[in-house]
Amino acid sequence: MDEISRYVAGVDVGTANVRAVVASISANGQLNVIGYGEAPNSGMRRGVVANLAGPQQAINKVLCDVERMSGYNVNSAAFSINGSQIISTRTEGMIAVGAIEHEINIDDLERVEEVALQGRTSPNHRVLRVVPLQFILDGQGGIKDPLGMTGSRLEMQANVVSTITPNYDNLCKVAELANAAAEQVVPSAIAAARAVLTERQMENGVAVVDIGAATTGVAIFEENDLQYIGVVPVGSNNITNDLAVMLAIDTEIAEEIKRRFATGNFGESESPVVIRWRGKELRFERDQIDEVVQARLEEILELVRKELKKARYEQRLPEGVVLTGGGARMRDIEKFVRATLNTSVKIGAPAGLTGVTDAVERPEYATAVGLMLMAADGGGSGVPKKMQKRSKKSGKKGGFFKKVLGKF
Ligand SMILES: Nc1ncnc2c1ncn2[C@@H]1O[C@H](COP(=O)(O)OP(=O)(O)OP(=O)(O)O)[C@@H](O)[C@H]1O
Ligand SMILES: [Mg+2]
Repeated sequence: MDEISRYVAGVDVGTANVRAVVASISANGQLNVIGYGEAPNSGMRRGVVANLAGPQQAINKVLCDVERMSGYNVNSAAFSINGSQIISTRTEGMIAVGAIEHEINIDDLERVEEVALQGRTSPNHRVLRVVPLQFILDGQGGIKDPLGMTGSRLEMQANVVSTITPNYDNLCKVAELANAAAEQVVPSAIAAARAVLTERQMENGVAVVDIGAATTGVAIFEENDLQYIGVVPVGSNNITNDLAVMLAIDTEIAEEIKRRFATGNFGESESPVVIRWRGKELRFERDQIDEVVQARLEEILELVRKELKKARYEQRLPEGVVLTGGGARMRDIEKFVRATLNTSVKIGAPAGLTGVTDAVERPEYATAVGLMLMAADGGGSGVPKKMQKRSKKSGKKGGFFKKVLGKF
């Protein structure tokens, strides 16, 4: 191992699965995936921590696996947060920056952010990201980065992403219990977007639709900025549960049927579905399965459409929709989404990585990979194993502008 290399890690705490990805960063900045792992999670309700022990154990297990694989002690990482309480609101602020010929500096940016956030945040809401959409300097708008520009009146329009404080605190708590500091806490769909979108897609207008087990996240980008995020409390597990109820079978059998036989090509096949389960042969009518899966997918997509409409992006996404999450693994799902939302659709899988990448170049790893990349964007904090022990420190805080003015 390179003596002065550092590591960066992402941990996706999903309702059904915890996944982690670790990469080393060499002295010349080269990122190399050196570990990944996943474990079933428990104790989460619709993307939110409902008891501490379940996620703590799952995170511990996954971190042990990636530590063994990578040779690094992972004691800090970027973590995902999820749940329908994640909201996106627009805000603006204005400050006087003093004398004429004053050059805008980092303190001015922090001050205008503070003013923009005043009245927008309440004690029971935790701000997760402030995405400046534009700055207006002495009346001139459309400025992306005013640092070093001259002016006397600075305005900022921003998108504020927040969630309810207990959800944030509980997520940090499970991270801390698993001895890994949450150096960043990023909504799942935003992290997934970091791993699968190109600059061109983000510039022109695109939505990531992250279909997880119990939630579906919608993150919309345009002009290279996050314009909107919303999370609906329905996911691919609802399809499994519907199959279990409608076909009067175990959820385990329903899951197997979903993974092996459900497709987005409804009505295409008439042959019955036959599976062997614990020595018995089970037969199901294809149209019965189609009916159940189609009804639930339609419901999920109707909720996605509502999010797009709320964000005023319905029929306004030149780069269409990119699907991530385990739910995107359903065969031909993109065909059905295209027909239902009337937009182009792609399956989003992380690409362009080096190292041990095969397993992580899948839609369900998008969030974990995106978190790892965001940890790298933010500088990361890992140092080689022999230089530190596992610590119990909690997450770092600090102004947005003091960190990197990242992509999002
Ligand atoms: N091959 C497949 N076909 C259909 N569905 C699949 C397939 N593989 C996984 N899934 C579904 O993907 C879901 C799990 O996805 P994922 O791991 O992204 O969820 P999660 O991140 O744990 O949940 P959430 O994001 O809602 O908190 C499960 O409902 C699972 O049944
Ligand atoms: Mg997820």
